[in-house]
Amino acid sequence: MSASNIVKTSRVLPAGGGLNGNVCVPGDKSISHRALLFGAISEGLTTVEGLLPAEDPLSTASCLRLMGVKISPIINNQVVQIEGVGLDGLQEPKEILNCGNSGTTMRLMLGLLVGKKDRHFVLTGDESLSNRPMKRVGQPLKLMGAQIWGRSKGDLAPLSVCGQTLHGAVIGTPVASAQVKSAILLAALTAEGSTTVIEPAHSRDHSERMLKAFGANLQIGGEMGRHISVIPNAKLKGQTVVVPGDISSAAFWLIAATIIPNSQITIENVGLNPTRTGILEIMKEMGANYEVFNKRNIAGEPVGDIKVSHVDKLKPFQISSEIIPRLVDEVPILSVAACFCEGDSHITGASELRVKETDRLKVMARQLNAMGAKVEEQEDGLIIHGGHQLHGSNIDSESDHRVAMSLAIASLMAKGDSNLAQSEAAAVSYPDFWDHLEKLRY
Ligand code: S3P
Repeated sequence: MSASNIVKTSRVLPAGGGLNGNVCVPGDKSISHRALLFGAISEGLTTVEGLLPAEDPLSTASCLRLMGVKISPIINNQVVQIEGVGLDGLQEPKEILNCGNSGTTMRLMLGLLVGKKDRHFVLTGDESLSNRPMKRVGQPLKLMGAQIWGRSKGDLAPLSVCGQTLHGAVIGTPVASAQVKSAILLAALTAEGSTTVIEPAHSRDHSERMLKAFGANLQIGGEMGRHISVIPNAKLKGQTVVVPGDISSAAFWLIAATIIPNSQITIENVGLNPTRTGILEIMKEMGANYEVFNKRNIAGEPVGDIKVSHVDKLKPFQISSEIIPRLVDEVPILSVAACFCEGDSHITGASELRVKETDRLKVMARQLNAMGAKVEEQEDGLIIHGGHQLHGSNIDSESDHRVAMSLAIASLMAKGDSNLAQSEAAAVSYPDFWDHLEKLRY
């Protein structure tokens, strides 16, 4: 079911109370998408443990099934099996590929499909996704010979792709985006000649890690691994993938336990890939009290458990462009944290937030201010004046999963109960969020 089919539900969020206990957050969303996509174009069987059973990966799976890939049902705590069709085995779908609310599905799917010669594909999404920029992927893919059409000169879905024989290229991406990088890498797998992607800053590297494990011929060089080259036509072989918990979902509990008095939470099995752990660096700057233990490596990704407890006086923090790629999805919950720091926190270099599921700078400023916070919206960030008491309010996720969960944590610290409209949005990445909140509350 896509986000647009879901009944809109408002939810009462009672203020007060601490959070205590252990929680296992669901599988990493980025890694789940990649396991499905790479498994689909491999030869043989891929099995995935811990795949995130949320709306976004379900969108990726349903698109792949329409192109002839057999994927077993995606159900909590069940291993998912993908029967790979090989690098060129995807069939032309009879139906439109619906990417739902998922930018990762649409962008990676574009990269996957542009090189499928003599096949035609149409991709669409929900209202939010249909207004998100796709040219950032389409433009570099066109340098490789791709043919993509869509509204607004090919920038907006619905998009139409006519598969071509692609040629390799050297491509500098204008934004540090793992979605753009991954789309190019996927296209490069079957291009004629090698391709190099050069990023302005190092974005999450799950694609590189996993493609190598599946057998792709990838070379990583340049400062901080920002130059990634693909030598095409290496056959991919089905693998066993174990998906760690998503640090972007753990982020809600990391901040909740930090700001809510008398709280202590241990989050088990969290992915700690260094391209994703910017939130931990900012928590250090705030003076948060957390400990990472039980560190281990699982299926090519670093993983650990994190124990975090409340701290009385938190310092304000600065987030600038350098760290944004390492915490891009955590800015909403970090803006909640800033409301409880003593002084002004500054977030800059964050204009990417404006093209996420919602304009997250605008929406977080609007919703937190409705609760009595003092948040100033800037062109590329936010200034958050900490230390103002929040009050229970009528708030709205505006259909954005991360906004829904961030506001839920803010409401626990308010004076008086809140009412959250469109709370169902959380299911896009964390279907059990509301149950976990109840379980941790005391
Ligand atoms: C993702 C990359 C990020 C992130 C998104 C998931 C991915 O987007 O915000 O939630 O899986 O590659 P960008 O790559 O556009 O920054």
